[in-house]
Amino acid sequence: MMDPAIDRVLTRWSPERQERARAVLAAYPERRSTVMPLLYLASREHGYCSREAMVEVGKITGLTSIQVESVASFYSMYRRQNVGKYVISVCTSISCFLRGADDVLAAIEDETNTPDGETSDDALFSVEHVECSGACGGAPAVAVNWELIEGVLPDKGRALCQWLKDTQPETVLADEMQALFGGQQSFDWGIAEPQGATSHVPAFERYDSAGDAS
Ligand code: FES
Repeated sequence: MMDPAIDRVLTRWSPERQERARAVLAAYPERRSTVMPLLYLASREHGYCSREAMVEVGKITGLTSIQVESVASFYSMYRRQNVGKYVISVCTSISCFLRGADDVLAAIEDETNTPDGETSDDALFSVEHVECSGACGGAPAVAVNWELIEGVLPDKGRALCQWLKDTQPETVLADEMQALFGGQQSFDWGIAEPQGATSHVPAFERYDSAGDAS
């Protein structure tokens, strides 16, 4: 039976996220081990990893607020401030730098009217430079809500931003953006991934061997 204190928190969440949280809690023998997936779920619930989200996760896991915050502050994928609908992350580490990432970043900042590290006034974009995205062979690499595009040149970076502005897709898909705005890839990605990102918060869905979310 679920601890009533946990139930009190979870019943504030959407039914879908309650169900995911209960499945996560059932999968671990120690409640404290669920802190990372629960931080993602709480972030989805609150829009970002807010203080309230961290307090809720503390209540569920039995960790103190400072313990939860020390996890959340260590990993950059937990956004502790609200961000735009599309978080555009430009890798500026060495391979991408050598292939002109600074110019790509400048083009994206200009096209979105959003300086590095900030969010646009209409909350459509957040722009950031990041360390190596693991796609050095396809530098310069850009990600939108963690969906990766390789070989992005400045003009394609501008076109990407314009496309996002014009179409405002609810889901962004790496394969689609790669085909529209990418260039040289580090390797052939092979099997097309059918699901994209619906938020800057990773969904960490499970996939079966056919690539379908389960
Ligand atoms: S240096 Fe940019 S992806 Fe590795």
